[in-house]
Amino acid sequence: MLQNIEKLLEEARQFKAGTKEEIEQFRIKFLGKKGLLSDLFARFKEVPAHQKKETGQKINQLKQFVLKKIETQLENLGEEGVQEDGQDLSLPGPPLALGARHPISIVRNEIISIFGRLGYTISEGPEIENDWHVFSALNFPPEHPARDMQDTFFIEKDPDILLRTHTSSVQVRVMEKESLPIRTISPGRVFRNEAISARAHCIFHQVEGLYIDENVSFADLKQTLLYFAREMFGKHVEIRLRPSYFPFTEPSAEMDISCQICGGKGCNVCKYTGWLEILGCGMVDPNVLEYNNIDSIKYTGFAFGMGIERVAMLKYQIKDLRLYFENDLRFLEQFQAAY
Ligand code: DAH
Repeated sequence: MLQNIEKLLEEARQFKAGTKEEIEQFRIKFLGKKGLLSDLFARFKEVPAHQKKETGQKINQLKQFVLKKIETQLENLGEEGVQEDGQDLSLPGPPLALGARHPISIVRNEIISIFGRLGYTISEGPEIENDWHVFSALNFPPEHPARDMQDTFFIEKDPDILLRTHTSSVQVRVMEKESLPIRTISPGRVFRNEAISARAHCIFHQVEGLYIDENVSFADLKQTLLYFAREMFGKHVEIRLRPSYFPFTEPSAEMDISCQICGGKGCNVCKYTGWLEILGCGMVDPNVLEYNNIDSIKYTGFAFGMGIERVAMLKYQIKDLRLYFENDLRFLEQFQAAY
């Protein structure tokens, strides 16, 4: 009899119902008036005295098990997915945070897209550069104080190997290997030996632009930059060009955009000038063309360079450069990538 109970217990354990009817069948089979359990109870008096205790316990165990089984099977039918151990597989999982693009990537992609519409290709160069591509080929004379404009990280003790201080070096690489006309932008990381503060960082990002062809004029430069400023910051933006100096352009200029916070009236963001500086530019110095074996009588070109952090600061009104590098999710989550 004990063996028989054990078998029934196993049968009850295996039972899994798909419908209410199946559970009812199961109940009748075990607990019904003529069911297996009443049969067992009826035959209990035949059990020899020394086995009565154990057999009685087993029958009760079976009965309890069957009752519990009916209960859990009924519950499972109600809530699909609830396991016997109580785990509810239909509950939603723990939320997975959705990643967002970094503001520097968003702005870089937007700059690429704007110039892409004007037919600019993308070019890249190495971050570890040599003196020729960063300075000499860009018309910085050997002892010229302009070299001090940028605090350079040199690699080991070799003054020829350095981390590029600007993406203008890619101009040189493009002129070396590409045929004319050239119309390209070069986004990338640059390095300067500066103390980290709200306004300066030793690693940041620039986009360089270069256009060389016959009859490229300063008017072309100005119109290109106006188009860029309006695509990037809005169609009411005005630009102004201030004379400046860079060794690799002549004439050189710095470009400001009208302050979008105050609409040019003056506020603390634009320091009450109505203008915000955004990039450097100019006509490629004939020396630079000649250093790279381009006929400076036949060809002219313009170039410009901007800091991506700076553009993003103006676009999103970010006041501290360090935020870009801290990877604080509260900061990073705020930027929606359209690009
Ligand atoms: N390379 C300059 C800088 O890092 C930016 C720049 C200025 C690039 C004028 C240019 C340019 O191409 O024409 O400050």
